[in-house]
Amino acid sequence: MTQISQKPFLDVLSGHRQNVPPVWMMRQAGRYLPEYRELRAKAGGFLDLCFTPEYAAEVTLQPIRRFNFDAAIIFSDILVIPYALGRSVRFEAGEGPRLDPLDTEQVTSLATQADFSKLEPVYEALRRVRRELDPNIALIGFCGAPWTVATYMVAGQGTPDQAPARMMAYRHPEAFSKIIDVLVENSIQYLLGQLKAGADVLQIFDTWAGVLPPREFQRWSIEPAKRIVAGVRAQAPDAKIIGFPRGAGAMLPAYVEATAVNAVSIDWAAEPSLIRERVQNRVAVQGNLDPLALIAGGAALDRAVDDVLANYASGRLIFNLGHGIQPETPIAHVEQMLKRVRGYKG
Ligand code: CP3
Repeated sequence: MTQISQKPFLDVLSGHRQNVPPVWMMRQAGRYLPEYRELRAKAGGFLDLCFTPEYAAEVTLQPIRRFNFDAAIIFSDILVIPYALGRSVRFEAGEGPRLDPLDTEQVTSLATQADFSKLEPVYEALRRVRRELDPNIALIGFCGAPWTVATYMVAGQGTPDQAPARMMAYRHPEAFSKIIDVLVENSIQYLLGQLKAGADVLQIFDTWAGVLPPREFQRWSIEPAKRIVAGVRAQAPDAKIIGFPRGAGAMLPAYVEATAVNAVSIDWAAEPSLIRERVQNRVAVQGNLDPLALIAGGAALDRAVDDVLANYASGRLIFNLGHGIQPETPIAHVEQMLKRVRGYKG
C-alpha cells in the first residue's frame, strides 16, 4: 500500500505497516533540550515538574514542537506509583532516584491501594496535552513494570544488577510476590486512568528484565505484564499496549506470546533474525538505535540508522532508540537521524 496514513503510529499498532516508519524517542523530553533544563530549574524538584500539570504538559510538548515526532509520551516517571503507595521517593540532582529501602519485614505493612489523588496532576497533564496536541500525533501513557519498580523499592536506588530484589525473590518469594501483586493491581488502575485522561497508547517499561534468569523472567516479568494487559483490556478491550522488557533477548518470543501486547520495544543488542522471524511476525517492533550512536553522530550514526531500517522496516516498525536518549546528545544528531528515517524509501 502506498497510501500515506494520517495516524502512522496507531496504524502500525493496529497491524498496518507504514512505508516510512513513525518515529519518537524514549526520554524525548529531557536534559538534552535547553528548553527542558530551563523549565526544570524553574520547577525546583523533579517531582514538582512531574506534578505541576502546566509544566508537565509543556515539557511533554517541547520535543514535538522541535522535531514533530509521531508520538508524545506524557512527562512523568515510573516511580510515581511507589510515591502514591506512600513510599518516600526523592530525586537527588545527578544521582538518580532515592527511596526508603523496603525489606522483607516491611512488606506486610506495605499499602495495597495507592492514593490516586496524588496522581491526579498526571491525569490533568494528559488532558492538557491531548487538547493541545495535533490529533494525528499519538499520546503515550506509561507505567513501570512491577519487576523494575520493585527493584527500586527494595534497593532504595538503582543498582548495577538489581541484586537486592533478585535476592529477596529467591529467599522470600511470598513477600516478593506481595510487592509484585500490589504493583500489578495499582498499575492497572493507573493505566486505565491514563486512558480515560486521553492517552491513546500505553507502554510498560521493564528496564531491568534482562537481569533475570529464564525461570525468574517468566515469573517476575512475563506473568505480571500479562496480568496488567489482561486487567486493562478487561475494562478497555481495544487498549493498545507496548511492552519493553529490556535485555530480554531470546525470551522475547515468549514474552510476546504470553502477554498479548501489541508491540515490543527492543534494545540495541537484539538479534535481527530472531526478531524478524519470531517477534515481528506477530507484533509490531519498536526500536532500536543505540543511544551512543546518536551521541557519536556522523557516518556511524547514518550506518546505525540504516541498519535499523534494513533490519526491520520491511515489517511493522516504530523507529525509536534501544533505550532512553542521554543528556549529552547533540540536538543536531537527532535532526540528522530524523532526516534519514523520514527519507527512507522502502
Ligand atoms: O520518555 C519520556 O520523555 C517521558 C518521561 C520519562 C521519565 N522517566 C522522565 C525522567 C519516562 C518514560 C521515565 C521512565 C523511567 N524512569 C524508567 C524506565 C525507562 C528507562 O529509561 O529505563 C526508569 C528506570 C525510571 C527511573 C528513573 N527516573 C531513573 C533511574 C532516573 C535517573 C536517571 C536519569 O536519567 O537521571 C529518573 C529521573 C528522570 N526521569 C529524569 C527524566 C527526564 C531525569 C531527571 C532530571 O531532569 O533531573
